[in-house]
Amino acid sequence: MSKITLTINKQQHELDVPTDMPLLWALRDKLNLTGTKYGCGIGTCGTCTVLVDGVPLRSCVMPASGMAGKEITTIEGLDPTGQHAVQRAWNDEDVPQCGYCQGGQILSASALLRKNPNPNDDDINAAMSGVLCRCGTYHRIRKAIKRAAAYAAREGGDA
Ligand code: FES
Ligand code: FES
Repeated sequence: MSKITLTINKQQHELDVPTDMPLLWALRDKLNLTGTKYGCGIGTCGTCTVLVDGVPLRSCVMPASGMAGKEITTIEGLDPTGQHAVQRAWNDEDVPQCGYCQGGQILSASALLRKNPNPNDDDINAAMSGVLCRCGTYHRIRKAIKRAAAYAAREGGDA
C-alpha cells in the first residue's frame, strides 16, 4: 500500500492505495468520482481520460501512486456548474447518445482548445482520435468543438 496525496479538481485528497492501483479505480472506488468511466482497461478506448497537468491521459493505465504533485482534472471538475464553453457547446449540439464516452471526449476537446483555439477538422480528428465512441457521435463532436471555439473567441476566455 502507498499513502499518497492527490490534487483532483483543485482539492487535495489523502489516500491509502495499493501501489499498482490505476488512477481510474482511485477516482471511482476511493473518491466516488464516477464520471470517469471504465471501458477497455488497457489504454485503447479513451473513455477513462482525465487531464493530468492539462494533458489528456488514460487513467486506467496510470498508477495513482505516480500522480502525486500533479493537477488532475476529471469531468466533475472541468466546471462544476456545467458552464465551460465545451460543455455548453456539447449541450447546444446535443452531442451525447448513450453518454458513456462523453467525459473523455469533453476533456480531450477542452485540452485541444487550450492548445489550439481555432482547430480545423484535421486538427480535431488528430486530437480526438484516442477516444472511441461506439455510438458514432463524431460528426456532432466536430461541430461542438467548433462551436466551443466560437464561444471562447466571443467571450474572450479559455475554452
Ligand atoms: S478504459 Fe482506459 S483506455 Fe479504455
Ligand atoms: S455516446 Fe455512446 S459511446 Fe459515445
